[in-house]
Amino acid sequence: MTKLVIIVGSVREGRFGPVVASWVAGQATAHGGFDVDVLDLADVDIPLELPAASPKYAGDDYPRPAGMAALTSALTEADAFIIVTPEYNHSYPASLKAAIDWHFTQWTAKPVAFVSYGGAAGGRHAVLHLENVLTELHAVTIRDGLMFPMYYTAWEDGKPLDPATPGYAKTMLDQLAWWARALKAAREAEPYPA
Ligand SMILES: Cc1cc2nc3c(=O)[nH]c(=O)nc-3n(C[C@H](O)[C@H](O)[C@H](O)COP(=O)(O)O)c2cc1C
Repeated sequence: MTKLVIIVGSVREGRFGPVVASWVAGQATAHGGFDVDVLDLADVDIPLELPAASPKYAGDDYPRPAGMAALTSALTEADAFIIVTPEYNHSYPASLKAAIDWHFTQWTAKPVAFVSYGGAAGGRHAVLHLENVLTELHAVTIRDGLMFPMYYTAWEDGKPLDPATPGYAKTMLDQLAWWARALKAAREAEPYPA
């Protein structure tokens, strides 16, 4: 089984993110082959003040808060990620940036797919920024994802209204599974030269 962590990126009061993540988790479970874990950043202690050293070089001794332990171990164990993100001011939420910046090797040589939503932009700027940031961490971003502009008109009863959406989700999950298998085999064969 491929260990898939679905990250709920927004922590705002009244947020829509958990609705999207729950539906995506259902699609991933139905797809088969994924051991699915939904990780909600609202449940994690993510201070903005980072330690002096970079997590890139600090290894397992990096001094993270106790309330971040579940996030760190889930990221470490994961073979693949789906980031569920809204768009805030043409980017992604600060909660997500802080969670990313507290880690480094946990992302390296692993695939990341994106499901975004928002107003008119639907999260496209958020995803472009995430692709850029995750490249620095040696993650592999997946080409196909899901995007929901005007999400408040595109969802009903916890599901997207467009009947084509499960098909798009399957394409994203097929690509994510392929990369997860390929990268896991490569990580096991030889350490990544980061
Ligand atoms: C601070 C803030 C900034 C936003 N900026 C944008 C934006 O630039 N583009 C967009 O399409 N939607 C924008 N929105 C709309 C959000 O994408 C929408 O409210 C979404 O529901 C937020 O996700 P959440 O409910 O999970 O917090 C913004 C919302 C907030 C709260």
